[in-house]
Amino acid sequence: MPFIDRVTELQFLETKWLSGKAELLILWGKRRVGKTELVKQFIQQRFSHSCSM
Ligand SMILES: Nc1ncnc2c1ncn2[C@@H]1O[C@H](COP(=O)(O)OP(=O)(O)OP(=O)(O)O)[C@@H](O)[C@H]1O
Ligand SMILES: [Mg+2]
Repeated sequence: MPFIDRVTELQFLETKWLSGKAELLILWGKRRVGKTELVKQFIQQRFSHSCSM
């Protein structure tokens, strides 16, 4: 199933990642809204470039 939207959320995570500071994020939302999937998608996008040759 394709990952839909979450552009704003992914960009927000990217700014936090690049902030150069320690950051604490609380990811809150109702059940099955996509919290785990968002984090998985971010990690996949963030590290796919550095891992591929
Ligand atoms: N942006 C998205 N586009 C398409 N499918 C999605 C998206 N986000 C989540 N899903 C799908 O919706 C379902 C629930 O997502 P997920 O497990 O990430 O929710 P959750 O908020 O972590 O749930 P829980 O509260 O039970 O931990 C999963 O099958 C996931 O693949
Ligand atoms: Mg979850």
